[in-house]
Amino acid sequence: MEDLGKRLTGNVKALEEAAAGEETTLISAVTLLFEKAIAQAFPIVPESLEKSRWLVVQATSDAKHGDYQCNSAMAIHKILKDKVVSHALAGVADAPKAPRDVSARIVECIPKNKVLLKTEIAGPGFINIFLDPAFIAESFAKILKNGPQPPASQPQEVVVDFSSPNIAKEMHVGHLRSTIIGESICRVLEFCGHRVHRINHVGDWGTQFGMLINHLRTAYPNFHEQPPNISDLTTFYKEAKKRFDEDAEFKEASRTSVVTLQAGDPYSLQCWKALCDVSRIQFQMVYDRLECAGLVEQGESFYNSRIPDVVKELTAKGMVEESDGAKIIQCGKQFPLMAVKSDGGYGYDSTDLTAVKYRLQEMKADRVIYVTDAGQSEHFEMIFHAAKRAGWCEGGARLDHVPFGLVLGDDKKKFKTRSGEVTKLVDLLDEAVTRSLTHLRERMNTEGSTTQMAEGDLEEASRRIGYGCVKYADLRQHRISDYQFSYDKMLDLKGNTAVYLMYSYARITSIKARAGVKLQDLANVLPSVQHPKEYQLVLHILKFPEVVERVADTLLPHLICEFLYDTAEKFNDFYRDCHVIGDPLQSQRLVICEVVAAVMKKGMSLLGITPLEKI
Ligand code: ARG
Repeated sequence: MEDLGKRLTGNVKALEEAAAGEETTLISAVTLLFEKAIAQAFPIVPESLEKSRWLVVQATSDAKHGDYQCNSAMAIHKILKDKVVSHALAGVADAPKAPRDVSARIVECIPKNKVLLKTEIAGPGFINIFLDPAFIAESFAKILKNGPQPPASQPQEVVVDFSSPNIAKEMHVGHLRSTIIGESICRVLEFCGHRVHRINHVGDWGTQFGMLINHLRTAYPNFHEQPPNISDLTTFYKEAKKRFDEDAEFKEASRTSVVTLQAGDPYSLQCWKALCDVSRIQFQMVYDRLECAGLVEQGESFYNSRIPDVVKELTAKGMVEESDGAKIIQCGKQFPLMAVKSDGGYGYDSTDLTAVKYRLQEMKADRVIYVTDAGQSEHFEMIFHAAKRAGWCEGGARLDHVPFGLVLGDDKKKFKTRSGEVTKLVDLLDEAVTRSLTHLRERMNTEGSTTQMAEGDLEEASRRIGYGCVKYADLRQHRISDYQFSYDKMLDLKGNTAVYLMYSYARITSIKARAGVKLQDLANVLPSVQHPKEYQLVLHILKFPEVVERVADTLLPHLICEFLYDTAEKFNDFYRDCHVIGDPLQSQRLVICEVVAAVMKKGMSLLGITPLEKI
């Protein structure tokens, strides 16, 4: 009994300390108050069950039910009913009769605070929570002063393995998705204060290199002086493959070439490097367009010399079995992982086993994230299973696979060009820019249009819009779903698109500009939150850190897209109903414009999109 009492006091004390600090998200500030209230009202609850079972605070979808809602009463009522007999001595003998009574007691125990205006008990026992407008206004003004802030997090070392195309092959739309999603995840994690390592795990070491080198040697003997150009490289790959499939002698020579290459033969290495260099130029053209910087190439070849030791380690740990001359690791799936192939070689599995160990143990990653198409989900489940079994995650490291769906063409089939070839990514991206330019010119020539731009700015603007739209179209739906690639849809000014967001953003900056008020004149001004549209917009903006927090956890960037689209919509509502320029509340409303613009810009940058200040 005494022990229990001590532990309870300890809990409450820890909570009080936490409450004294500044919470970085609205929801955590509200949740903390309810955690304290529940611990006070029903000490037995936190003592006997983990938080996730009884602490349920969430945003409401309808403002009538308050800003947030605490739905803990039902769960707590059940816990108390189950525990009350055995814990009668712990002070809960008078178990509340119904969930509404539970709610009433929680509400009584909410500590004094400046966050909440009032609470209401509704239905079977929901607690509707209304925030204090003064608190909202003050929190919002802080963004004006300090800029949009991330949620609080313990800084981590994070490895993000993304993009990862294959040497000598054309980069395809799957790699485009990986690059766009991966880059956005990196930006979100960096914003949260983590140290992010962007790793490009290029396919540069498979058995295909035997055939490629062999073909290079014979078909382009002077490749040093005249490297095959990139479009030839795809053809080149096909030619090599054809010879490999049709010519037994070539096939045999290719096998020998792999062994020679892997043994470090200088000439083979030279050929291999030449192939890699040609591919890199092509990859870089895509990265430049996507503004994807800082991606470090650490391809499959990097791990080759490290594989034998890893196989030894896994064997010593009893994880490896012999099977038809191969060494395999069973992971409870239909197929096992191949630690060593029956010909003694190493493949995709051995490389990934070695890579995950390297990242966890040499790079000291707290979290390793892999961004690939959903087709590789099982592969990563097995790699993660093996890594855990080998004890490599012992420090609590987290492994995440971030799977995504297919890109479909207009016909809802897998995306291809009319001729049936894979589309070159550079062409695909540039087409978006060309179309944006056409749209911009059209808009400028439309009578009454507000789109006005100097000729010299058009090119940069269409690049930002074009690439931005491709990225947004990719990111805006849940990444696991397939999406249809359509220039018309992604460039639609009235749709849920990057160009819509960019126009909304530019509109806000133009309001700011027209008002002609200097930022420093707004320094101590609080936003007006009297009008419901003001209140809803301001409250929405304050949820930005919690959205970022969720994305950092779930790795679902579409949540940021949703947030930004809602922001634009809520801003439109506000601007329709509330005068800004010339209104007695001009300054208070300009603060809103200023902060909304700053948060939108930040949110877009997390998606890799750079808005235009003027369109
Ligand atoms: N190169 C692979 C592909 O094109 C993707 C590699 C992903 N990363 C990894 N560690 N396996 O499908």
